Amino acid sequence: MPSVKEMDWSGKTVLVRTDYNVPLSPRGHKWIVRDPRRIITSFETINFLRERGNKVILMSHLGRPKSREDGQCSLLPVAGYLQKNTDWPVEFIDELDDWDSVRATIAAGEPGSVFLLENLRFHPGEKQNDPQLAKNLASLADFFVNEAFSSCHREHASVVGVAKLLPSAAGVALDSEVRAFSQLLDNPVHPFVVVVGGAKISDKIDPIVNLARRADAVLIGGGVANNFLKAVGLAVQKSYLQDAPADWRKEGRDFVDVANEILQENRSYRLLKDGYIPLPKIIYPVDVVAAAAIDSRKTSIVELTSNEKICDRCNQMYLDIGPKTIKLYRELIMQAETVFWNGPMGAFEKAPFVHGTKEIARAVAKTGGVTLVGGGDTIAALDRFGYFNSVDYVSMAGSAALEFLSGKRLPGLAALEREQ
Ligand code: 3PG
Repeated sequence: MPSVKEMDWSGKTVLVRTDYNVPLSPRGHKWIVRDPRRIITSFETINFLRERGNKVILMSHLGRPKSREDGQCSLLPVAGYLQKNTDWPVEFIDELDDWDSVRATIAAGEPGSVFLLENLRFHPGEKQNDPQLAKNLASLADFFVNEAFSSCHREHASVVGVAKLLPSAAGVALDSEVRAFSQLLDNPVHPFVVVVGGAKISDKIDPIVNLARRADAVLIGGGVANNFLKAVGLAVQKSYLQDAPADWRKEGRDFVDVANEILQENRSYRLLKDGYIPLPKIIYPVDVVAAAAIDSRKTSIVELTSNEKICDRCNQMYLDIGPKTIKLYRELIMQAETVFWNGPMGAFEKAPFVHGTKEIARAVAKTGGVTLVGGGDTIAALDRFGYFNSVDYVSMAGSAALEFLSGKRLPGLAALEREQ
């Protein structure tokens, strides 16, 4: 993938696909940007282009609007953020119906001017990768830069279509994100520990399978762990288990079967730790914090040793990893040279179940190894416990990163590849 920094583009017009799909908050009758980090990530590329006298056209989606009347999905608040927080002349282009007029507006801009187009998903052609929309977008500029790794799993007009029509390059942030994730897949420094949590297992299966081939240990927590506990025959009581898709159900298959297959595939592995210690590669909780419901204040620790012990309280939900599991996971993370973490260990938004996620966040922040963290909830946990700046690499990409780590070829990246 050519990088924008290798390009000798000056005095031209460059179309930059960003991911400004950022959370907004109401203020009076307006919406303002609540978390600008995805916006700030694009600044290095924009400054690089502006310093060379290029005009920059920024384009993005925001949310999943049903129609253009969906005012909460307008990028106007992002234009406001850019106008307030940079010294760039930023013009918001809210109408993309008359392409001649859009081209004229851009042609009238001075070198270094910045334009932000309204939400691309207000056009049905964006998600359909409509060639006409791609052509119209491409007609605005001389070059294309993709600075939206988190959208590269989408085969959309602004991600894939345009890249095929203009000389293209990877933005600075996209390039460094791809390098960071490629390092995990191609050349991780060992011991390499992966921590996977979150409620749903469906989008974690492929990354677990692919990363387990490279990692020394995969530590499982959150709702994902319930599938593994059940797979080894332990009672999960009333804990959350994600429903299998309808076609699987017809065949009598569910996510517990998948967890079982993953365990079988990764049997009898031993983790390097100043020698060897006898641990399987896939590690699931040995104890959990349980309660009758997510809002309960009354909790108990359930030791996951035998079903007789567990079934003393058969109506409980497992809502966090327990103290012995925390200790084990922390030790393994502290010894790692590379750590990747995606997904909280429990319902950390509720005080009784905060501990597991908080302690894992602390271990990831304190370990001497290289650390990568991704996923919205995991970033929220880092923020909440004050560790955001203690991690080597925080990826703002959710599904795109998981697909990349699954070994899939992302269409947005494929579209940037050039033959050597
Ligand atoms: C994200 O937030 O993960 C990206 O912006 C992609 O959003 P999407 O899932 O709506 O395509």
